[in-house]
Amino acid sequence: MQLTNEELKEKINEYKKKLSVTVVAHFYQRDEVFEVGDITGDSLELAIKTRDDNSEFVVFCGVGFMGQSVKVLSPNKRVAMPKAACCAMAVMIDGMQFDASVKALNEAGIMNENILPITYINSNADVKAKVGEMGGMVCTSSNAKKIITTALKEGKKILFVPDRCLGQNIANQMGLKSCVIGDGTNLLDADIICYNGFCSVHQLFSVDDINFYRKKYPGILIAVHPECDPSVCDVADFVGSTSQLIKYINELPEDQKVAVGTEFNLVNRLRPKNTYVLSSTKPECPTMNETTLRDVYEVLKSIDEGEPLNEIHVDENTQKWAKIALERMLAL
Ligand code: 13P
Ligand code: SF4
Repeated sequence: MQLTNEELKEKINEYKKKLSVTVVAHFYQRDEVFEVGDITGDSLELAIKTRDDNSEFVVFCGVGFMGQSVKVLSPNKRVAMPKAACCAMAVMIDGMQFDASVKALNEAGIMNENILPITYINSNADVKAKVGEMGGMVCTSSNAKKIITTALKEGKKILFVPDRCLGQNIANQMGLKSCVIGDGTNLLDADIICYNGFCSVHQLFSVDDINFYRKKYPGILIAVHPECDPSVCDVADFVGSTSQLIKYINELPEDQKVAVGTEFNLVNRLRPKNTYVLSSTKPECPTMNETTLRDVYEVLKSIDEGEPLNEIHVDENTQKWAKIALERMLAL
């Protein structure tokens, strides 16, 4: 039977009253899905708020690594996803590719005791576990600078995975040298050595887009996410994580125009006037957009029937080390 969004919302609310369940939704979710979230936010906020929540079940509307982070931090919770959606960047690296990256550093003369790995939260639990086992930690785009500042105090080379853009952007902001494994740079010359991963959605924004908006609307501000290419971040007026972008834009005077370089659903619900998407192509994250209201309803129904759909499981050893890597970040 084809239910309307209003009917689906009603049924979702009935399940929410009946079951011990919290619906969690990332800012990039479709509007109608975002609206049924009990907890909403960026990836860091979701990890923290969900850990402190008491429901037995979490229905996570987002991508796989985010649901996994909840499971890793709170192994006693049961986490189910309306869609088994993956972040395209997170799947660019697995445990074996992480080991190969460490080997590349070793071959350049940088031994394990001189490497401090940091993984962006956009990575799967096996990579977080490898990082945790090597004494490293997780970061998000909100706290990457703080985490790297702390890590550098150990006097080691930083191996940053998987997002080359975030790693290079933070290095540029801090006046540090960075490189990408395989780009021909001698790895010994860099403070931050990045894995060659990236977000295809944030690669859609270009310096040409910035020039176009600046010419069309003199005085417009350009605000972008640090997953954008360094050439874009270098000339933007503001670079910040999802929650930092929201705060920056909400605090602008009403008549200040701003063009924003991040995911479409978020930009679209930011501010009714004077806010533009910094791209001629609609920058939707395809996998974030996979989750529909119907999927949320179906997963709640499956929980009620005792056979949760897309439940997340993480093996004990991976959970242990990934949790250590996440908690090192939360402790800061
Ligand atoms: P946030 O950490 O800002 O929520 O970003 C997650 C993400 O996937 C950005 O593309
Ligand atoms: Fe991953 Fe990019 Fe989608 Fe964020 S926008 S979830 S980094 S693919």
